[in-house]
Amino acid sequence: MRKVILDVDTGSDDAVAIVTAAFAKEVDLVALCSVWGNLPIDVTTDNTLRVVSAFDINVPVYRGCARPLVKDLVADYPPKKIRKLVDENGRPLSMHTPNMGLPETDRKAEDLPAAMFYVDYLRKADEKVTVVLVGPLTNFALALRIDERIIDKVEEVIVMGGGHHFANARPCAEANIWNDPEAAQIVLESGCKVTFVPLDATHQAYITWDDCVRMRKIGSPASVFCAEQIEQRIRVHSLTQPLEVPDSAAVHDPLCIAYIIDPSVLNDLRHVHMYVGQGGPGEGQTIVDGRYYTQKKNCWFAFNGDRDRFADILIRVLENSVVQS
Ligand code: BDR
Ligand code: CA
Repeated sequence: MRKVILDVDTGSDDAVAIVTAAFAKEVDLVALCSVWGNLPIDVTTDNTLRVVSAFDINVPVYRGCARPLVKDLVADYPPKKIRKLVDENGRPLSMHTPNMGLPETDRKAEDLPAAMFYVDYLRKADEKVTVVLVGPLTNFALALRIDERIIDKVEEVIVMGGGHHFANARPCAEANIWNDPEAAQIVLESGCKVTFVPLDATHQAYITWDDCVRMRKIGSPASVFCAEQIEQRIRVHSLTQPLEVPDSAAVHDPLCIAYIIDPSVLNDLRHVHMYVGQGGPGEGQTIVDGRYYTQKKNCWFAFNGDRDRFADILIRVLENSVVQS
């Protein structure tokens, strides 16, 4: 069982990652850290608290950063245009929603900010911990800047982010990296073992409507919730970024948890030297150095993912939620 801290900008796929981590027998989830990203920090923190409360997940939640480390310091950024989507019945539709259909909760975030939690927890840890970052990398990068010695307690950093042949936030950048490129570079240079689960893996390990039917059949509140979140993603994908296989969606974040459970869910995992574009048209791009002979390798990068294996892992883990719910 691996001790895991999961850092989330909850979010539909983050929510599925939290549930997967909580119910996987291979994972000992010790804490959740929230970060802004998919939605503002108040909302991602509240969504995280709603998920842990709804499914009796007994782990502390630490509120994290509301902004990137450096980017946007000068507030002359043009406001982002948000395209309003509706479903076939005219109801509003979006990839990530405030409250996610879950009830309000009395659960509160801990007092300590997430970056300080990392420093405090890792300094005292007597066992190595795996840090899974599925939002912008701000909290953990800030912790590394406060005390770089914490890397001694980190077994592996697993990042959902980046893309080699795929992008989403910008023509050559994925959202988690694009949101805080400086933070991503700090994590890359930390000296930790860093494994990237980029869009190349998550788009090829897509989840289908039929997989959601299997999830719903499990019949626990957690499995039905995950099916709903993924179905919503399938609807949005079909309208905005259809995948080759109809009625399917990339469900990025839980692929990191699936990799902990069974590393063979990532295919074509290569040890590479990578850096992150800082500014200009390449801002937020994960640039894999093609000069195999020059640079010291600094991360592992998955160029593909196994869709059948991923779907089976999700179903198997959600089956645990029946016994425990
Ligand atoms: C990543 O960005 C977020 O929107 C998702 O939750 C995922 O972590 C995909 O680019
Ligand atoms: Ca996320």
